[in-house]
Amino acid sequence: MKILVTGGAGFIGSHTVVELVNAGYEPVIIDNFSNSEHSALEGLQQILGRDVICYENDCNDPDALDTIFQKEQITGIIHFAAYKAVGESVASPMKYYRNNLDSTMLLLEKMEQYGVKNFVFSSSCTVYGQPEKLPVTEETPRLPAQSPYGNTKAICEDIIRDVVRANAPIKAISLRYFNPIGAHPSALIGELPLGVPSNLVPFVTQTAAGLREKITIFGDDYNTPDGTCIRDYIHVVDLAKAHVQALRLLDKQTEGNYYDVFNVGTGQGNTVLELVQTFEEVNDLKLNYSLGPRRPGDVEKIYAEVDKVNNIMGWKAEKTLADSLRDAWRWQQKLTSK
Ligand code: UD1
Repeated sequence: MKILVTGGAGFIGSHTVVELVNAGYEPVIIDNFSNSEHSALEGLQQILGRDVICYENDCNDPDALDTIFQKEQITGIIHFAAYKAVGESVASPMKYYRNNLDSTMLLLEKMEQYGVKNFVFSSSCTVYGQPEKLPVTEETPRLPAQSPYGNTKAICEDIIRDVVRANAPIKAISLRYFNPIGAHPSALIGELPLGVPSNLVPFVTQTAAGLREKITIFGDDYNTPDGTCIRDYIHVVDLAKAHVQALRLLDKQTEGNYYDVFNVGTGQGNTVLELVQTFEEVNDLKLNYSLGPRRPGDVEKIYAEVDKVNNIMGWKAEKTLADSLRDAWRWQQKLTSK
């Protein structure tokens, strides 16, 4: 079964392509390479021992989508392609709304047109804001988004839900990711941040590699055991496997009108300092870091309740924080040695 993977050359997309092939699906990538590199395709080729079909197009391009849907027998879509920098979204909201909303709406329209039934959407725990009660379940109310980026995730979830309600043949799942980190254990694919990374782990690995002088930990006065923020860090390979399980669950739904949301995390929260210390321990090195002021917009703590995804989807995170940080470092070393 051919699955269209938008943003399939990106960080989570490329790892999902591997797991799709392992599970017997045939991925078809569409990626405009605006935030990914062709080297990801080479990495995939090496891991899989063969090429993956890839269309170098924008998934906002209706003609390109027509070509793909006419040529390939697509049975499902996993929609990763989106802008994702929180700070940039505050500075350029229209760029985010235009890109992230348009692509989702266009794909849904094309699904109707070509009779494609299954849709998996990349959502984010950002839709919960700072929840009152932890861990967050899927019933935890969504809070007003802190950024246009976060708002695009919430709005897309709503659009998908409404389209599913109105169009019986389409079935969809939104996966609310917690913090994806790590890299493929082969070190052949991983995260490729453009410019200065804004996410924690790429900044940590670039600092350890000497590409950055030091890392600042944003805030040490939060109401947490060591004063730094708490997140639920999930290995990208585990996260990739959740997409396969989502497709399988969609395949099992015989009726249309099926829409559901799932948290995808480990269920465990770690502070920033715990992550830094684990990184130092498992990789046997010292990281140059300092404690600095809070970053505006950061939530204090968030981690997932994962009963629903465990029980209904039959998916569970298998890798530890140590595994993730070992793999992230191996990937960084590979990049720096090039
Ligand atoms: C954010 C978004 C998330 C989005 C992700 C993608 C929110 C609440 N979360 O995650 O939805 O999918 O970005 O980009 O909008 N930190 C440091 N120093 C650094 C970098 C980060 O201390 O140099 C800390 C942050 O304060 C935070 C933690 O590390 O506590 C994780 O930060 P980051 O990796 O940027 O992810 P989130 O902000 O959690």
